[in-house]
Amino acid sequence: MSKTSSEQLASTLPTHIVLVGLMGTGKSSVGRQLASMLNRPFVDTDKKVEARAGKTVREIFEADGEAAFRAVESQVVNEVLDTDVPSVIAAAGGVVTQEPNRNVLMRHRENKQCVVVWLRANTDELLTRVKKGVHRPLLDADPSGTLTAMARDRTPMYEQVASIAIDTDGMSIVQVADAVLSQLRTAQ
Ligand code: S3P
Repeated sequence: MSKTSSEQLASTLPTHIVLVGLMGTGKSSVGRQLASMLNRPFVDTDKKVEARAGKTVREIFEADGEAAFRAVESQVVNEVLDTDVPSVIAAAGGVVTQEPNRNVLMRHRENKQCVVVWLRANTDELLTRVKKGVHRPLLDADPSGTLTAMARDRTPMYEQVASIAIDTDGMSIVQVADAVLSQLRTAQ
């Protein structure tokens, strides 16, 4: 899609485009690409949590535990959704595990303040992609088993919050971003 037509589309979209999905589905890279195409700021909830805590995701998990990480993550999710500046948001993989986060996403979706896009990929593809990152302490022990269990447990949660789902297997970042834009256009 050309820059002009994607910018025209941007003016008709809900305030926030929120990308959800398991670790490795490409939320951050696709989000950055989409933000550039739509001329909007890109927001990554993990980066906001890290800035707030003054520590990396890994350091928060190690020093304070997952529950503390989830508490800050929930604050961040509420704040970024309440912002009026139109943005593209990569919501970290575990955001949907907290019921209040799912409720706030659905409320904003129903009020047309956001659209939630679920990026999907099979476990083999996810395993290849997550090797590039070190900010995922939950994958230290058994990446394959953990991602398989997460796919099983979280699929209903992603289904609940998202109105658009994109299968990204074998696709480049630009192809996924184009697919998101085309689905957003159809959904108008
Ligand atoms: C997590 C996903 C990670 C990060 C943390 C926990 C999860 O973010 O928040 O390691 O529970 O799925 P990404 O989805 O951006 O990798």
